[in-house]
Amino acid sequence: MPAAFIAGATGYAGREVARALAARGDVRTVAHVRPDSPRLEEWRARLACIGVEVDATPWDAPLMASTLATLRPDLVFCLIGTTRARGVKGPRTPAGRPAETYETVDFGLTDLLARACVMAGVRPRFVYLSAAGTGPDARTAYGRARWKAEEAVRASGLPWTVARPAFVSGPDREERRILERAGAIVFDGLLGLAARIGAPGPRRRLASITASALASALVRAALDPAAEGRTLERADL
Ligand SMILES: NC(=O)c1ccc[n+]([C@@H]2O[C@H](COP(=O)([O-])OP(=O)(O)OC[C@H]3O[C@@H](n4cnc5c(N)ncnc54)[C@H](OP(=O)(O)O)[C@@H]3O)[C@@H](O)[C@H]2O)c1
Repeated sequence: MPAAFIAGATGYAGREVARALAARGDVRTVAHVRPDSPRLEEWRARLACIGVEVDATPWDAPLMASTLATLRPDLVFCLIGTTRARGVKGPRTPAGRPAETYETVDFGLTDLLARACVMAGVRPRFVYLSAAGTGPDARTAYGRARWKAEEAVRASGLPWTVARPAFVSGPDREERRILERAGAIVFDGLLGLAARIGAPGPRRRLASITASALASALVRAALDPAAEGRTLERADL
């Protein structure tokens, strides 16, 4: 049976990918939860109910490589990332700055996971959840870190697929993100209006997507030979 390893499995997108893979019944699904998560045991119980195993390997390249060498996954989903608000509330560096930033988490952990696959001698399809608007000259630190992460994945030598949704949003997100949800609703409304007056392009490129619709698209792409080496924009998802 093929195996899948999901980093970021506790997130809005990650838990839907875990659910979608497990529901297939033909993929051994292993969800990664960080070992210091205060909700580790809760996640073990929740994920076990849907037939998903939990792995809590620390975010350390040799340790992660050892786990991957044992599991030998055919698919690796990298669905992690922090937010500015989490960074501000989280641990600090000795200089007093947030330790968890787009650079250290969104780029750093993606790069670590891709390198760990290479160290482990496995060649899974590496599916990276990036975001619309990334690029080397992106205006935000978020956009630049996501671009660096994409580049690390593409340069890893692994088979890869990158997905770039715009808003990932729906009423079913457990964590309350009022601004993100309101932004998605307003933005979708404007895109719908533009489509009705004859400009459907922006809606195809930028409409929000729910985690379950995104998960279906990511799983489909992960298993599709034609999606290898492709960067999927919103319209492809
Ligand atoms: N939401 C959007 O509108 C959107 C749009 C486009 C792209 N994206 C990108 O897609 C990614 C996933 O989206 P989402 O909505 O599912 O995000 P989410 O709900 O915030 O989930 C983020 C995941 O990353 C993990 N994580 C965060 N900081 C970590 C750290 N320091 N160490 C280890 N794991 C860490 C979280 O683990 P814990 O549960 O343990 O914290 C969680 O599993 C995001 O990071 C985002 O940049 C999001």
